[in-house]
Order: sequence, then C-alpha cells, then structure tokens
Amino acid sequence: MPAKRVTPNSDPLPAQRRPKLRPIEGGRVALPPHETRGAMPLESCLHLRRSVREYSGAPLRLAQLGQLLWALQGVSGLGGLRTCPSAGAIYPLRTYVHVCRVEGAKPGLYRYDADMNAIEALWHGDRRKSLAAAALGQECVEQAAAIVILTSDYRRITRELGERGRYVTHVEAGHAGQNFLLQAAALGLGAIGLGRFDPDIAASLLELPEDEEPLYLLLAGHPAST
Ligand SMILES: Cc1cc2nc3c(=O)[nH]c(=O)nc-3n(C[C@H](O)[C@H](O)[C@H](O)COP(=O)(O)O)c2cc1C
Repeated sequence: MPAKRVTPNSDPLPAQRRPKLRPIEGGRVALPPHETRGAMPLESCLHLRRSVREYSGAPLRLAQLGQLLWALQGVSGLGGLRTCPSAGAIYPLRTYVHVCRVEGAKPGLYRYDADMNAIEALWHGDRRKSLAAAALGQECVEQAAAIVILTSDYRRITRELGERGRYVTHVEAGHAGQNFLLQAAALGLGAIGLGRFDPDIAASLLELPEDEEPLYLLLAGHPAST
C-alpha cells in the first residue's frame, strides 16, 4: 500500500524524517518532584481505570504530567532502575510527549529525560490534527491535553537478545502503558492507550529519529464528563 501523506496543521511536513532533531536551546522544562505516596490504593486504581475517549479543554498541571511520565518510565531506584521493569535493565523504550495544554510548558514535542526529571523541547507547535489523522481519525487525539508517544530503540536490545529483543520491547511497552493508565486513575485523570495508528506517518510528522519505532500512543487529560 502506498504511504499516506499527512499535512501538519502548523509547521510544514518535513520532506523526510530528520534523524538529528536537536533539543531547542532554552527549551528544557524541569518537572516537579514526583510523589511516591498517593491517596488512592492500587486496588481502587485497578477498579476505576477505564479508557477515556472524551476530554474537557482543561489543562494539566506540570506536576500531573510529570507524575504520569514518572509512572511510565521514571527513575525509582539506584543505578537508574525505573518504575517499569525491563528485560536485562536495557530500557529500549523512549518517551516523547506532544504537549497540547499543560500549564508551564508551551505546546510542542518534548523528549522525556528520566534521569534529569525534565522534558526537553524538540519543536514548538501543534500537530494534533495530523496526529489524529495518523491515528485513523480518532478524535480523542485532538482532545487530549497531552499525547505521549512511546517509541522503541531496538539497537542495543537486539544486540543482546537477538530478534527476541523486539518481542520483549513490546511486552515492556505494555507494562509502561499500564503504569501510565493506573497513575492517571490515581490522579483522577482520564487516559487511554492507542495502538490504532500508522507508525510511519506518526514518526514522520513528529520528526522522530529514524532508528525509533512508535509503538504506543497514550493520551491524558481531564475527562469531559467531570
Ligand atoms: C494495546 C492497546 C491498544 C489499544 N488501541 C486502542 C485504539 O487505537 N483506540 C481505542 O479507542 N482504544 C484502544 N484501546 C483501548 C481498548 O479499546 C480498551 O482497553 C477496551 O475497550 C477495554 O476498555 P477499558 O480500557 O475501558 O477497560 C487499546 C488498548 C490496548 C491495550
């Protein structure tokens, strides 16, 4: 099937993916320290978690975004061990977030720096419409306050585990996604994981590095009904 083209609604579509996308100077946003205690027991988070597809226009606080990212891939132990288990502690997942409405961070694409507990701007702008088109028209993508893009960098894990490395990376994305969804439930936020999107188009319009494959989109925001 020929590749579909999607036109971003702000910055122009890059002629090709730019493997050397660099952080914008001065575009680093420090995230508030994460919480390690919450008001809601795990059992209640498990009970309450539901996929949310309609979001209000209310912004997330930076601390809420930081907490979600920490649950997804944050550092929780000595030597850089994370909230999410990883085969051989190789950590092949990379985390990006398209900020749409977050207090204290301009709209745009950021890379999550787990070690520094910060997000680094890669470009500023709003490509939600194009991303929704890449997600086969799923409107929730346009409504979310933040769109997390979980990608995989298979280079080291396939060196160590061979082709099995791809499989375990996908398993790991599931672990990370569930952390995110349960954390959203604990914060009283809405969230959903999306697998129905074209990874090539998403990678192209977000200008992700050539050697990374988008695996999972995770949306978060305030549910429309509350
Ligand atoms: C890997 C994965 C991919 C998913 N992709 C989509 C998707 O693209 N669009 C969507 O609306 N829901 C998607 N979902 C959410 C499921 O539809 C949802 O989990 C299911 O209907 C059960 O509902 P619940 O999450 O509220 O319990 C996905 C769920 C998983 C685990």
